[in-house]
Amino acid sequence: MNGRGRLLLCLFLSAALTPPRQLAVAGAASGSSSKVVTSLPGFQGRLPFHLETGYVEVDEENGTELFYYFVESEAGAEKAPFLLWLTGGDRCTVLSGLALEIGPFQFVAEPYNGTIPRLQINPYSWTKVANILFVDTPVGAGFSFSRRPQGYDVGEVSTSLQLHELLIKFFIDRPEFLANPLYIGGDSRAGQLVPFIAQKISEGIEAGRSPILNLKGYLVGNPGTGENIDISSRVPYAHGLGIISDQLYETILEHCQGEDYMNPRNTLCAQSLGTFDNLLSEVMAAQILLDNCVYASPRPGTETGKSAGAARKILSEEAVIVPGKRVKHPPPRVPLGCISYTAYLSYFWANDPLTRDALGIKDGTVDEWVRCHDGDLPYAVDIGSSIKYHRNVTVNGYRALVYSGDHDAIVPHLGTQAWVRSLGFPVVDDWRAWHLDGQSAGFTVAYSNNMTFATVKGAGHTAPQYEPERCYAMFNRWILDQPL
Ligand SMILES: *[C@@H]1O[C@H](CO)[C@@H](O)[C@H](O)[C@H]1NC(C)=O
Ligand SMILES: *[C@@H]1O[C@H](CO)[C@@H](O)[C@H](O)[C@H]1NC(C)=O
Ligand SMILES: *[C@@H]1O[C@H](CO)[C@@H](O)[C@H](O)[C@H]1NC(C)=O
Ligand SMILES: *[C@@H]1O[C@H](CO)[C@@H](O)[C@H](O)[C@H]1NC(C)=O
Repeated sequence: MNGRGRLLLCLFLSAALTPPRQLAVAGAASGSSSKVVTSLPGFQGRLPFHLETGYVEVDEENGTELFYYFVESEAGAEKAPFLLWLTGGDRCTVLSGLALEIGPFQFVAEPYNGTIPRLQINPYSWTKVANILFVDTPVGAGFSFSRRPQGYDVGEVSTSLQLHELLIKFFIDRPEFLANPLYIGGDSRAGQLVPFIAQKISEGIEAGRSPILNLKGYLVGNPGTGENIDISSRVPYAHGLGIISDQLYETILEHCQGEDYMNPRNTLCAQSLGTFDNLLSEVMAAQILLDNCVYASPRPGTETGKSAGAARKILSEEAVIVPGKRVKHPPPRVPLGCISYTAYLSYFWANDPLTRDALGIKDGTVDEWVRCHDGDLPYAVDIGSSIKYHRNVTVNGYRALVYSGDHDAIVPHLGTQAWVRSLGFPVVDDWRAWHLDGQSAGFTVAYSNNMTFATVKGAGHTAPQYEPERCYAMFNRWILDQPL
């Protein structure tokens, strides 16, 4: 049995043998549990926002429970829009979206010394204007778990259906939010699911599934679509930024026509893409102007070449710093000045017993919290292209915002803009700058059917992590149905 199999078995056994501790129960009817969190380790004093955490069971047969953080809007929870937010990557925890991007608190970037990392307020939290339900998904991400190993065998479609189920159950327990305008949002790989979830919700509304959700629209940031263009647009993007030569650019165009850029069959194409990847690896693809620090990856064995030795050394250091804690696979330490330093800190915060206690994490469910996985759990890529759902949902009158951090070489704005345009909707507000404090903060174009595309100047792959103020301004205007 491999390591993962053993881990799953342990998980299964310990979950089966340990009866879940009874928490403050909000939704006995739907089998959900929740807890109001008034203080958090690392944050001084009472939280100045309303935070609730909990679980919603979405697959009874396998005992799958998705963990959520729910933050009420400071603008008045009763009226504010309600946003379901998802994080992408390979089962990356939604704490990334919450504490590194759009939520009300973030980590203080200071050297980790064995004391629980400190938290501070994010002045550009999207919860100023919206209620946000952050969900750890797919199951296996963050604190979400399944009692049976089979429960981890999910894919894009089943995960989307579980999230629809989660919303239904959440609103059954919290009918006071049912009338608030509902939006679905996420970035990167989660962007692939978002229009599909919106489609499923709209089908549920048409079929009269109770309770009727008040879906208004969705937003996606540097989203994957499942199409080749997400990847192939890296080539003109890197060319335009001087990362690759004219010659390589021309060679790729010549030999990769009609090829799947992830699995090219043409040898010359494969070779030139190899050269391309080497050159691109010299910059941080998520934000090409920043230092290419070691990615704060979750598990050992993922770092390559030069970083591996250093990472192993640090691994053993950290194991000494936090004796007796659940620190088995700490991410390699990154230099303090790197943007990913706070992602590195999140591991120590989330695995601290005090944090687990404050969040109401059920004993025996998730032994070790990791920020992302790396292919150790199955995930079926079964939605195919999400572009047809973007078209259908917006044609049916739902609003959509597609935004791109313009310094992202992972899902470059060039590809995103191209497929948005290919939907063929008439332009109602032509390409122009949008502004913040008298300065251009990006560019935008609006189509009929309420589809808006916008770039965010200077932002990377998970845009609000890099340009929080601009992203907040964009979100604030869009969610309140104002022009950018
Ligand atoms: C670690 O750093 C924090 C804040 O910088 C400080 O309050 C704490 O005393 C330090 N702990 C140790 C063990 O050095
Ligand atoms: C439980 O897991 C199995 C294996 O992944 C899956 O086929 C089945 O549909 C799941 N049950 C439910 C109710 O989703
Ligand atoms: C488009 O959306 C409508 C309404 O939700 C749905 O009934 C229809 O099946 C969808 N079409 C496609 C191609 O998904
Ligand atoms: C947005 O949608 C609403 C209703 O679905 C419609 O009344 C309005 O004209 C649309 N706006 C644009 C700019 O197409």
